[in-house]
Amino acid sequence: MTPAPPDASPDEQTTATPVIAIRGLYKAYGALEVIKGVDVTAMPGQVIALIGSSGSGKSTLLRCCNLLEDSQQGEIEFDGEPVRWRGTGAARQPGDRAQVARIRTNLSMVFQSFNLWSHMTVLQNVMEAPLTVLKQPRAEVEARARALLDKVGIGDKADVYPAQMSGGQQQRAAIARALCMEPRALLFDEPTSALDPELEQEVIRVIKALAGEGRTMLIVTHDMHLAADVADHVIFLHQGRIEEEGPPARVFGAPRSARLRQFLRVVEDVPEVEAATAESAGPRLTGPSAIDKKKRQSTTQQGDRP
Ligand SMILES: Nc1ncnc2c1ncn2[C@@H]1O[C@H](COP(=O)(O)OP(=O)(O)OP(=O)(O)O)[C@@H](O)[C@H]1O
Ligand SMILES: [Mg+2]
Repeated sequence: MTPAPPDASPDEQTTATPVIAIRGLYKAYGALEVIKGVDVTAMPGQVIALIGSSGSGKSTLLRCCNLLEDSQQGEIEFDGEPVRWRGTGAARQPGDRAQVARIRTNLSMVFQSFNLWSHMTVLQNVMEAPLTVLKQPRAEVEARARALLDKVGIGDKADVYPAQMSGGQQQRAAIARALCMEPRALLFDEPTSALDPELEQEVIRVIKALAGEGRTMLIVTHDMHLAADVADHVIFLHQGRIEEEGPPARVFGAPRSARLRQFLRVVEDVPEVEAATAESAGPRLTGPSAIDKKKRQSTTQQGDRP
C-alpha cells in the first residue's frame, strides 16, 4: 500500500480518500501484455514518480489512468468513485460517458510534446478547455489563465503563437493550460524529455513549485533528479509490473531489486544518495539534472492530443 503523504496527520492517514486508486490493472494490446497487474494509490497532495526502461508501460499506465486507453482488468477509483465498466476482457470499456468526461476533466495531462494548438495564441490555448468543456464565463477564465501564465513565468507571451516560443516556454504554457482546468491531479508524461538542459530547468522549477503547493501528481520521467527532488513515492516499472517502489531516498540510495540496480546503472546521472542514511534522509543531489542526459525524440504518440 502506498503511504500517505509524509506530512499527513495520523487521522488523515487513515481517513483520507485517495485521489487515484488503481488496483490490479491489466492491459494488453492484442497478444502483447503491457500492464500486468499494477496497483497505484495517489493520496491528496502526493507526488508519485514512475520510472522504468523504455517500453516498460509507463505511458500506457498514465493513459489507462485517465481513460485515454481501455484496460481489460482491474479497478480504477477516482476520489473514491470507481470507474463503471461495461463488457469484460477485450470488450471492456468505461460504461458511463458522463463519468469519463468528469474524470478526464479532473486529471489534466501534460505531454512530452506539449501538444498546444498551433493556430491559437498561448492565452487561447490556456482558456480553450475551461470555456468549451467547463463552459465557464470568459472573463473569469481569462483572469485565471493570465494569472497562471504569470505563475509559470510567461505572462508576457499570452498573445503569441506556440511556434514563436522556446520548447521550455511551450511546455510551461501546456502546464498553465492543464492547471486552468483546476484539476484534482496532474499527469505528466516525460514533461522535460524534449527539452534542452537549460530549458528543462525552467520546467522543472515549475513542477517543483506545484509539488510544493501540495498538488497531486503522477510524473513519468527519465530524469532521476526530478523524481528524487519532487516525488514522495517512486515506482519502478519493469515489463508491466511494479518491480520496486518506495521513498526516493531508498529507491535511489538502497535499491533492493537487481533489476532496479541494473536500471540505475544504465541511467546516466542518478542522484547520489548516502545508502546508509537512505531510509531516513532526503536524497543528496549532485550536479544539474540534465547533464549528459540522453536526448529523446519529441514524438507525438497516438492519442496525445489536447
Ligand atoms: N497503441 C499501441 N499499440 C500497440 N502496442 C503499444 C501501443 N502503445 C504502446 N504499445 C506497446 O506497449 C509497451 C509499453 O509502451 P509504453 O509507451 O507504455 O512504454 P513506456 O514505458 O512509456 O516507454 P518510453 O519510456 O519509451 O516512453 C511497448 O511494448 C509498446 O510498444
Ligand atoms: Mg512513454
